[in-house]
Amino acid sequence: MAEKIVILTGAGISAESGLGTFRDEGGLWAQHRIEDVATPEGFAKDPALVHRFYNMRRAEAAKAQPNAAHLALARLQREYSGEVVIVTQNVDALHEAARAEVIHMHGALASALCAACGHRWAAPLVMATGEPCPACGAGAGRPDIVWFGEMPYFMEQIEDHLLGCDLFAAIGTSGQVYPAAGFVQQARYAGARTIEMNLRDSDSSYAFEDHLIGPASKVVPRWVDTLL
Ligand code: APR
Repeated sequence: MAEKIVILTGAGISAESGLGTFRDEGGLWAQHRIEDVATPEGFAKDPALVHRFYNMRRAEAAKAQPNAAHLALARLQREYSGEVVIVTQNVDALHEAARAEVIHMHGALASALCAACGHRWAAPLVMATGEPCPACGAGAGRPDIVWFGEMPYFMEQIEDHLLGCDLFAAIGTSGQVYPAAGFVQQARYAGARTIEMNLRDSDSSYAFEDHLIGPASKVVPRWVDTLL
């Protein structure tokens, strides 16, 4: 039995909750330019455009419900006799809505960040250019999202978990974005067994020993049943 399981989730786990992924057909990056809405440079150039993008995603996320995959992972975390750590690239709050504890390495739609003083606060549903910071008063509020070219959050904590895990699982991620796409190698280096769950092969499928192909809402609960 694995003493410690580390699970990485990506946009695919929230797809069946109605939240679009990034790189699938008709995904977010087919509709929006990464440079415009997911870089610090894009925010400096046109903050209103960036706020519109995240306001749209915040409104969608507010309507979404956790699906059977989110619920199954929360159950695993509650009932498994060993340690279960969930790291997500997602910025929605569906893991929390399923009552799971999760590490948001790419930030969260529900959080706002002051670009002037670093203060964080609960993001209003609609943010606007010059959003005032409740701590320093500067009109420098931005979505608390890790953009391309920025360092993901909690990396030291995550790397400690990877070094100590016995089983690493990746669910609904394309394996195209680092450092998350490299976690499987770090886990293998630490001697962990590895499993990937996805609708189809990803860019890092070669690095995993086991694969479960199918929609997350089907394969994740089945996998959790085998562990409990
Ligand atoms: N069940 C399981 N997997 C699914 C499902 C589903 N219902 N629907 C889609 N997938 C898979 C796709 O096959 C794909 O491999 O989810 C993956 C989604 O990939 P991406 O859209 O690239 O999302 P993700 O890997 O989370 O992106 C990583 O990139 O854009 C940045 O910061 C953003 O966190 C994001 C990061």
